[in-house]
Amino acid sequence: MTATPAHAYLGFGSNLGERRENIAKGLAMLRESGKIEITKVSSLYETEPVGYKEQGLFLNAVALAKTDLPPHDLLSLCKDIEVQLGRESTVRWGPRLIDIDILMYFVESGDPFSDRSGGSAEIETDTPALTLPHPRMWERGFVIIPLAEVNPNLTMPDGRQINSVIRDLRVWTGLQLFETGSWWQGAGLNRDGWRVMRFTEVESTNSIAANLASGGASCGTCVIAETQTSGRGRQGRLWHSPPGGLWFSLVLRPKIQSQDVGWLSLVSGVAVSSAIRDIFGLPAVVKWPNDVLVSGKKVCGILPETRFIGDKMDFAVVGIGVNVAIRTDLFPPEVRETCGTLVSPYHSHASEAREALTVSILDNFSLLYRQFISEGFLGILQKVREYCDMLGREVAVLRLGTPIQGIAVDIDSDARLIIRTKSGENVHVVSGEVRIGVPGAGYCGE
Ligand code: BTN
Repeated sequence: MTATPAHAYLGFGSNLGERRENIAKGLAMLRESGKIEITKVSSLYETEPVGYKEQGLFLNAVALAKTDLPPHDLLSLCKDIEVQLGRESTVRWGPRLIDIDILMYFVESGDPFSDRSGGSAEIETDTPALTLPHPRMWERGFVIIPLAEVNPNLTMPDGRQINSVIRDLRVWTGLQLFETGSWWQGAGLNRDGWRVMRFTEVESTNSIAANLASGGASCGTCVIAETQTSGRGRQGRLWHSPPGGLWFSLVLRPKIQSQDVGWLSLVSGVAVSSAIRDIFGLPAVVKWPNDVLVSGKKVCGILPETRFIGDKMDFAVVGIGVNVAIRTDLFPPEVRETCGTLVSPYHSHASEAREALTVSILDNFSLLYRQFISEGFLGILQKVREYCDMLGREVAVLRLGTPIQGIAVDIDSDARLIIRTKSGENVHVVSGEVRIGVPGAGYCGE
């Protein structure tokens, strides 16, 4: 043992048996050893095998551990736990119940500017048993992406910040989000994350999610499909959902009133806009009440659906459709004119782009949703004001067949759009199709 406090990044992998439980047990045994404190754990990602391809998909995660153990003792502990969990020797890169690797190891230096991890010095070693930092870690998306979650400020050996590297879509190759939140804190337990269920083709992810919710699925269930045959849009419209888009629905169980449901759309709109800006660098904006636009074209639609028992909300399903990489030229003319796609369907990393976007949207959504549930709408309203470029502009909207035209001045506490008409009256609009910046044009009045 050394008295020097240290921290290490550990990589976990499993592709045999109960993969999620194997990794959760490995983490629990590290904690129970009394020699390690687990301070942060990434989401779980499902990844294609590297090297030897004839084997099942892996689950991977990264954890940050505090320890007094020197590197070789830490390695022995990890290897002991692998054996206790039943790992047997296999071919290199072959199937395994559990793999626990030390990726990087730092000792506290007391100088916050001394190194790549802030206030600590990285230990490098190269012995037959252990090489640090792990020699192949920077080539592997299944290490880089969860590692960036655990410490987004980490600097890579080439000087780039890890968070900027995950915007390189190639890093996402062969990797999908599996579960976020506190999945690692005990078998089956996860109160604050997303459990992803994937389908190839469904009628509508909203219907699947609603059925699951009716059957008791917990808040945080996320249903993703590659295509939808009867995707639902607002006002009973069909939502075209070809391959290449991101079509998903979230099960939520907020204790909110029916008039607050509009906030779920706005939370989603901000989460999607912010993710599009981050991953694609495109100027995405929220269009009240349920859309996200890029350069005036609709790239995302949001459909919240709810079930109330009496006056209490049983569940909400928030359906989100994003045109990530789709052929809009195949859409019917009326839709083709107004919708856009984030990247070309022929983009070489279209599926990676979709995955990166999914993770980013879910992260953003979690933060905003929790803020909304714990603090109310004011924080979200601030965000909406930041992302909604129609505020302060001329708009026109049809309300119950009656046209309303004026300046969109703000959003009220019930997520309604406030339009100041020419006569100076403030009209609070619950829902409707809005046209922006077209005084006197469109369907409003003429
Ligand atoms: C709109 O009309 O703008 C809302 C479109 C919502 C589409 C999404 S795609 C995933 C989810 N499943 C559905 O059937 N609809 C929503």
